[in-house]
Amino acid sequence: SWTADAFVETAVSTLKEKLGNDHVIMALSGGVDSTVAAVLLHQAIGKNLHCIFVDHGLLRKDEYEQVLESYRHMGLNIKGVNAKERFYQKLSGVSEPEHKRKIIGAAFIDEFDTAAHAVQSELPAGIEVKWLGQGTIYPDVIESVSVNGPSATIKSHHNVGGLPDFMKLKVVEPLNTLFKDEVRKVGKALGVAPNILGRHPFPGPGLAIRILGEITPEKVRILQEADDIYIRNLRESGWYDRVWQAGTIFLPVQSVGVMGDERTYEHVVALRAVGSLDGMTADWIHLPYELLAKISNEIINHVKGINRVVYDISSKPPATIEWE
Ligand code: XMP
Repeated sequence: SWTADAFVETAVSTLKEKLGNDHVIMALSGGVDSTVAAVLLHQAIGKNLHCIFVDHGLLRKDEYEQVLESYRHMGLNIKGVNAKERFYQKLSGVSEPEHKRKIIGAAFIDEFDTAAHAVQSELPAGIEVKWLGQGTIYPDVIESVSVNGPSATIKSHHNVGGLPDFMKLKVVEPLNTLFKDEVRKVGKALGVAPNILGRHPFPGPGLAIRILGEITPEKVRILQEADDIYIRNLRESGWYDRVWQAGTIFLPVQSVGVMGDERTYEHVVALRAVGSLDGMTADWIHLPYELLAKISNEIINHVKGINRVVYDISSKPPATIEWE
């Protein structure tokens, strides 16, 4: 029967044989799949694996720094790319959800292509990066379009115009026979930290599709603050691990409130928490009223610019998990 230890042993020796002294480049997202794939590749080929982590400025609060630090801690050969301003620039004035996704996908490919060239240029003459590592898992293989992580972003865009150079690489996908729960077990066997293995799914376009309408750095900042309070409270109350995915949504409306004897006219955020097995269907989670009350108070009292918090009680279908 299948065990994670046996999988790791076989996968590492297969990768060693397949890759020999070749160099591999790979984009990491901070998510479970790409992280576990990278650790596995790293066990097989060590420093010949070159990882790139792009900050599109649409991650959770402090996530870029924390994830980069964990990657370094794991011994991965990782390069962070701070591309925030370039993404904000390209997204400026755009409010249609699919348009945002296209811009982010294309900008991500540009950043990765540039980073891949930089990696190549630092290698000794005659040594070429030959492979593109990807965290593709079995459900991604069987679905025509996968939804998670930068690997999906690459796939859904690679028939648009001329291919970037890294697309000419051969692809290595060490997890493409595994289901999500098996990926977590493999990650555990490899010693990947529980806080990484237990992370909720997070969409590739990140907060861009949780800010309804136009994205501005100020809205990103407000949303990150509110979301940080929400997620921290879920963790502290023990609800984080009982929820499949949770997040905060910045609504494109302002509403009237009152503070002291002043009338306020500020933003609204919605909290979302769902239970699901695969994201295809999802039920909204009945979080306790006391917990919701605490989160709402904390957000309204601490996040300047928000005077109202609502809770999303819609299931999928007919709603979706994300609002865009
Ligand atoms: P929906 O909103 O379609 O989401 O019910 C189902 C799952 O997919 C994630 N999602 C995305 N992931 N790029 C991604 O990488 C996307 O554009 C995207 N849109 C939705 C969503 O977070 C949920 O886990």
